[in-house]
This record gives sequence, structure tokens and C-alpha cells, in this order.
Amino acid sequence: MAARHALGQLRTEVAKAVVGQENTVTGLLVALLCQGHVLLEGVPGVAKTLLVRALAAGLSLESKRLQFTPDLMPGDVTGSLVYHANRAAFEFREGPVFTNLLLADEINRTPPKTQAALLEAMEERQVTIEGAARPLPDPFLVAATQNPVEYEGTYPLPEAQLDRFLFKLTVPLPTRDEEYGVLKAHHQGFDPRDLAAAGVRPAATAADLAAARQGVRRVQVADVVLAYIVDLCRATRSAPSLELGASPRGATALLNAAKAHAWLTGRSYATPDDVKAMARPALRHRIRVRHDEALEGSTADGVLEALLRTVPAPR
Ligand SMILES: Nc1ncnc2c1ncn2[C@@H]1O[C@H](COP(=O)(O)OP(=O)(O)OP(=O)(O)O)[C@@H](O)[C@H]1O
Ligand SMILES: [Mg+2]
Repeated sequence: MAARHALGQLRTEVAKAVVGQENTVTGLLVALLCQGHVLLEGVPGVAKTLLVRALAAGLSLESKRLQFTPDLMPGDVTGSLVYHANRAAFEFREGPVFTNLLLADEINRTPPKTQAALLEAMEERQVTIEGAARPLPDPFLVAATQNPVEYEGTYPLPEAQLDRFLFKLTVPLPTRDEEYGVLKAHHQGFDPRDLAAAGVRPAATAADLAAARQGVRRVQVADVVLAYIVDLCRATRSAPSLELGASPRGATALLNAAKAHAWLTGRSYATPDDVKAMARPALRHRIRVRHDEALEGSTADGVLEALLRTVPAPR
């Protein structure tokens, strides 16, 4: 199928710039197929920004990058009405959110009001100003980056808003071999600011994505696999170390992600392994570890890992 080939080629294009980080790339591809927004979290310098820039360069879509700063205003994101004196009229000037792929960089550096403007646009896929709704382009996907929330001078996203992201992808430090590869590429002249010179070319179009989504919709899911997703999500609600479990919205996110993961892998049906592969990125930001358990070292990923081991999966 042409669309699957194009998505595979997109992975190859990203790999021309980014060494390793395959799981993060898979997460970004699944999100594209699900039309879901992604939050990328990781310490500074692990290529969060580079990953999304490379993804944008591999797509024949319009993309914009917006650096979130403490003084950014909601109108700087969504756009605003501008007065034209010569015509004595207000005119809407579109903000950077009017694009296909928005890289919302360091989203936790901007105050809640500006975050809320972005998250509202993400949820509604439109911008409403002075009562007039303006639809955002289609496809529309936000890839937001943030540093881990313990960092100073940041505004952590409210839990209720995290639920609007399909995935939270945690970008790990590279392995020794990968880091060696990064240095080798830089030593040989790789310039992260010039992705075209690194050979990154547009490989997938909006039509490819639309065809891929059709394919994802046709992926079959056996009743026992649906029930497995339900059991996993219910288990998060009764886990003693969690004070907040995954919502039904989280369960549907996991279902869609598992179908897209199956399609990317070349299968026409989803397996329990697709569910397992997508459980952490789809659920980790929708559950909350109890404070005392967190002090003892419990993490959302740790709890999910334990549930994946204990909740019986169908064969
Ligand atoms: N896996 C990698 N492959 C290629 N280059 C990498 C990789 N990891 C880090 N680098 C190099 O490190 C630079 C820093 O990456 P980038 O700016 O994307 O980090 P970041 O995670 O967005 O950091 P910050 O949180 O500070 O914004 C890249 O431009 C690249 O030169
Ligand atoms: Mg960055």
C-alpha cells in the first residue's frame, strides 16, 4: 500500500537527522495517524525539538514553530483582531496555530492563560474570537515539548488539559552507541539547523495520511482485545498507588493508538501486544500517583508496567 510505504519513508527521512529515538518516532507516526496531539517530555538536549522539526521536514505539510516564553499572550498563539485605520475596520490576523503541524516548543514556560488558548484550539480545532469561529486547517496536529516539571520557572500543565494530548512521549537519553552516532554525524558536518542539507526530504503528503487513516479505521479488533483495554483502564482506577485512573477518553485513545500501531506494523488486526506497546504513551499522563507513593519512588510508568504484567491478556 502506497500510504504505508510513504510512512515508512517518513521514518527514514527523520532518521537522516535524528540518531535512534525509534520509540519516539513511532509515537509521532501513530499520533499522525490518529490525528492526536503529542506532548514530548525529556531533559534538555535530547533532540525533542529536532525530532519534531525533522518530522515536519519529512511531510509535505505546512508547519510552524512557536517558542513559548513567559511574555507570550493568547493572541500570539491564536491570532487577533487588528484595526485597519485606513479602512476603519477590524480584520482577523491568523496566529501560528493556523497550520498543519505546530511545534509548540517549551509549552511549560508560558503562563496558564496562554497555554489555555492553545489547548482550547487543540480540542476544538477552531479559534473563536469575538463570537466568530475560525476552523483550523486539516490535518492539524500539535507537538508540544516540555522539560520535566521539577524545573524552576515553569508552569506545569493542569491535569485536565493533559488529557487532551493523545500521547505523552518521554524522550530518553541516548544509549552509548547512539550518542557516539550523534557525535560522528556532527563531526562529519551534520548541522541540525539545516535539515535540507542533511538530505531530509518531504516523503508523505496529506493524501498519504488520509489514506493511512482509512486503513487504520479498517483494522479489526477482536472482542477479547477490546475487553483487555477496558480491563487495563479499570485496573488503573482501582490501583492502590494511584489517586486518579484513566478515563474512558483514555481508553478510547488507547484503542485508536493500538489500531494505528497494528496498521503501521503491517497488520489488519490489533493484538494485545499493540495495546501493550501503546499503553504507556497513551495513559501515563492520564493517571496520578498518590503523593506518598510518589515520595516512595512510585512513578506512573512503574505502575503501568506492573498492571501490564498482572492484568491477564488474551492469547
Ligand atoms: N538523537 C540525536 N540525534 C541527532 N542529534 C542529536 C540527538 N540528540 C541530541 N542531538 C543534538 O543535540 C541538539 C539538541 O537537541 P534539541 O535542541 O532538539 O534538544 P531539546 O530536547 O529540544 O532540548 P531543550 O529541552 O533544551 O529544548 C540537536 O540539535 C543535535 O545537535
Ligand atoms: Mg527544544
